[in-house]
Amino acid sequence: MNAPDTPPPSRTPAVPGASFDGVDLAALADRLGTPLYAYSASAIRQRIDGLQQALHGLDAMICYAVKANGNRAILELMAGAGLGADIVSAGELRRALQAGIPPARIVFSGVGKSEDEIAGALDVGIQRFNVESLDELLAIERLAALRGAVARAAVRINPDVDALTHAKISTGKSENKFGVSIDEARRWFESRAQLQHVRLDGLHVHIGSQILSLEPFRQTLARVAAFWRELRHGGHPIASIDVGGGLGVRYREGETPIAPADYVAAIREALAGFDGRLLLEPGRYLVAEAGVLLTRVLRVKHGEARDFLVLDAAMNDLLRPSLYDAWHDIVPVSAGAGPEVVYDVVGPVCETGDTFARDRRLPACGEGDLLMILGAGAYGASMGSTYNSRPLPAEALLDRGRYALVRRRQNFEQMTAGEQPARQWETA
Ligand code: LLP
Repeated sequence: MNAPDTPPPSRTPAVPGASFDGVDLAALADRLGTPLYAYSASAIRQRIDGLQQALHGLDAMICYAVKANGNRAILELMAGAGLGADIVSAGELRRALQAGIPPARIVFSGVGKSEDEIAGALDVGIQRFNVESLDELLAIERLAALRGAVARAAVRINPDVDALTHAKISTGKSENKFGVSIDEARRWFESRAQLQHVRLDGLHVHIGSQILSLEPFRQTLARVAAFWRELRHGGHPIASIDVGGGLGVRYREGETPIAPADYVAAIREALAGFDGRLLLEPGRYLVAEAGVLLTRVLRVKHGEARDFLVLDAAMNDLLRPSLYDAWHDIVPVSAGAGPEVVYDVVGPVCETGDTFARDRRLPACGEGDLLMILGAGAYGASMGSTYNSRPLPAEALLDRGRYALVRRRQNFEQMTAGEQPARQWETA
């Protein structure tokens, strides 16, 4: 390893360039191959610190949304900083526990928790369930009764607020599948006495992701706060309010994310007088800008109508551009400094949607050049697939001049493990 044994004393600014968190990216790509996700531990710590500072003085717990990036090394970093986890599946629960996040810091969200998943979460004693339907509430009651346990629960409110983000990642409008209306939540509290094995004493809300304007958060918080006050007056004390995630990041020049201090100020203002615990579930904010996807140019193809830069990364490695038309900056790491050319930047997958960028201006590139796709730390690797039988890429964690391989590149055998020829036929 060509990195120093002891990290440099000063904090390396974790802004990607030829080096990222003190690690030479070209050397890293030579060593580990491409496509390769590289995450900066320093950048993640900076985000955690910033948010924790903004929360100073509040009884608050940050439950990192595991779905954004569930790599074990990332989760261990979160655990080390004292964060909890927001999980949405049994798999995420296992990941969080494996990384050392205590069950008392785990909240379980999601519209489709299976009975097995609820049972598993009850058995380890998670902090609370964020409940999304009456059926789910009754299932938790039943499964907790079987265990002689009392589950803690928050009702996920659907505040009918437009998060002003991409429709596919908006969750707080009444037509979305998430949460229940305040009217329905009120009925849950009114009949709360019938629940013997669920302590319903929390409110939860999450209106969407990549939110760049404070206004939707303000509207949401106002509705939640009014409901909390109403419940308090009605004799239903609320022990926790979970404000969800959603804080946006800068993917593109000109985008101005909400400063954590402003976000927390809006929370303080709306929830003034609330003496329970505040929960937050940020995902993207903590990891998106701390990750890059390193990729090499396989080929420059001069088409009839446009020039294509064909990369060795594809939509199976980073789906966001294909799925949401999301913008990610693409920056040469070791490309020649030739004149700029306009490319469509694409992957090798057999779909026109396998496009990272259209009409993107880049220095002229040639075969083998190394590029990085920025803002790839959240919903990158975690949304990866093996489509077109492309094994999952490797992942590395960088930290002040050193790196660790935190996910080995998948090989063919691992990718196809579990498949078998149809030799043994049975009737069901
Ligand atoms: N809490 C709940 C209940 C959630 O559903 C989510 C994200 C979060 C917290 C974290 O949200 P964040 O802070 O990361 O915005 N794949 C999409 C994003 C989907 C977000 C799903 N839920 C993307 O690549 O943009």
